[in-house]
Amino acid sequence: MITIRPARSEDAKALPAIEQSAGEAFRTIAELAWLADGDNVSVERHRALIAGGACWVAADEEDRLVGFLSAGIEGDALHICELDVDLDRQGQGIGRALLERAVADARRRGLAGVTLTTFRAVPWNAPFYRKFGFRVLEGAEIDERLASLLGDEVEHGMPSDQRCAMRLDLNRAGTR
Ligand SMILES: CC(C)(COP(=O)(O)OP(=O)(O)OC[C@H]1O[C@@H](n2cnc3c(N)ncnc32)[C@H](O)[C@@H]1OP(=O)(O)O)[C@@H](O)C(=O)NCCC(=O)NCCS
Repeated sequence: MITIRPARSEDAKALPAIEQSAGEAFRTIAELAWLADGDNVSVERHRALIAGGACWVAADEEDRLVGFLSAGIEGDALHICELDVDLDRQGQGIGRALLERAVADARRRGLAGVTLTTFRAVPWNAPFYRKFGFRVLEGAEIDERLASLLGDEVEHGMPSDQRCAMRLDLNRAGTR
């Protein structure tokens, strides 16, 4: 059984290996295979994100970590920085459970939305988030913060026409 729980500082050291394993999925897409060899988020950065109080891990029966979602509060939104599930545990509902937990937390905090940047056409990226009600932002809908993130990604070699910003609007009066 998998449990979703808030990440603790001592979890940080396990997260780069999960990101590495998750990223192996990109080897199946020739032009994005290089992403699997890219740098992972550092343990220090994970510690800082965890300290922000908006990171969750998926743990098995022995509390071995198999996935995580790290996010931070940016203005009126929860911004998802990373969502990764070990390659051999993908497709089992763990990513869904992590995302649902983060969205529920954003609602509980009374935030107006959840944002992220991702690949438009990779099946486990934008189409995955669309299933949860996220929509791709276009033109003027992309605020300065998200535009700056997309700009940084292009500087790091990501193809700008394939990246997008997405947002899930939350009903502040929502009952969940
Ligand atoms: C994205 C990711 C976290 C999803 O986690 P997961 O545990 O595999 O996803 P789930 O099993 O919860 O699947 C949720 C939905 O996404 C769909 N999905 C997940 N992986 C998919 C894939 N490889 N191809 C097509 N659809 C996929 C599933 O069909 C499922 O929908 P359904 O329940 O209607 O069938 C995982 O694939 C991953 O770590 N990928 C590599 C890293 C990455 O790209 N992270 C996102 C960065 S923005």
